[in-house]
Amino acid sequence: MSLILGIETSCDETAAAVVEDGRKVLSTVVASQFDAHEKYGGVVPELASREHLRAIVPVVRQAMEKAGAGWEDLAAVAVTQGPGLIGSLLVGITYAKSLCFVRRLPLIAVNHIEGHIHAVLLESRDVLFPALALVVSGGHTHLFGTDAGITYRLLGKTRDDAAGEAFDKVAKLLGFGYPGGPVIDKLAPFGNPRGIRLPFARMKGNTLDFSFSGLKTAVLRWVESRDMAEEIARRKQLIRPSVEEWLRATPQATLDLLASFQYTVVEELLRHAAACAETFDARSLIVSGGVACNTALRAAAARAELPFPVFFPSAGLSTDNAAMIAAAAFPKFERVEFADFTLAAQASLSLS
Ligand code: KG4
Ligand code: ZN
Repeated sequence: MSLILGIETSCDETAAAVVEDGRKVLSTVVASQFDAHEKYGGVVPELASREHLRAIVPVVRQAMEKAGAGWEDLAAVAVTQGPGLIGSLLVGITYAKSLCFVRRLPLIAVNHIEGHIHAVLLESRDVLFPALALVVSGGHTHLFGTDAGITYRLLGKTRDDAAGEAFDKVAKLLGFGYPGGPVIDKLAPFGNPRGIRLPFARMKGNTLDFSFSGLKTAVLRWVESRDMAEEIARRKQLIRPSVEEWLRATPQATLDLLASFQYTVVEELLRHAAACAETFDARSLIVSGGVACNTALRAAAARAELPFPVFFPSAGLSTDNAAMIAAAAFPKFERVEFADFTLAAQASLSLS
């Protein structure tokens, strides 16, 4: 039995988890920085680093306590090396290195995107390989082919905004605050997803690449062509409103816009997965990252006639967490793929 302590600080969550043999989550602790960034309408990198510094020691201590583990029980410490905010990554990496130095533990470097993929493997034993992996979050929209969750081939990626970023920008534009994905997810069922025709991206070159900037611009043009300033200002006044309060402050046309936007993103994502099926001999599709929480995406994936089963992580493991980092580290632990103390944070680390 090998316990790995995972540490994740790539963006705005300070997270630690203890996972047994890459399969059994003994503890997972996530300290959100939501309160610190909320009033700025997005993540402020400098603030994120400072919040990680404040949270890292108590979060790791809590993860160890919840797992009922002592330092001597650990087989290794795994940490996110990148991609992410450089100052945020540095906090986790420096802490993990210090811990490994003092406790004489091996250090394992994990790519954050690989972590998201392993969040699914942690829970679903039935994933068959080779598999497609669609990672959709605030920072990434990537489609990979993977042999067995060990090596990855990039098949397509976004050329501009990530899917989650598009949700966040559209929500901000319309006065729905940050992050945008969860609120659009909750309000979209009250609108007509075919109410407003929004454009799908037409990619030249690699048609498996994604683009969400045209969609975002179409939403912006729709808003600019109407007198929405008062409506948007009214929503901005609301403090952590309930769905009912959002609905009272949102006319039907705007609900139709949210539903149509979400429908277009979901269609775009699933069309790419279906197109992949024609060229890549996949036996499963893994969908992970924050946008994998989206109810409409999950429902559409279940309805879609894809030639392979689709696997999502549970909601808690879809967004950033450290259990996925400890899980992704386990195959590396078995292969004795350890990092040394020269390990450097990499803001744009690629996976394939
Ligand atoms: O994976 P994650 O926690 O952090 C990154 O690695 O980026 O993903 C956060 C992103 C945000 O853009 C957020 O708006 C989006 O995931 N998100 C959602 C939902 N929940 C979170 N997007 C659509 N529907 C949701 N239910
Ligand atoms: Zn993430």
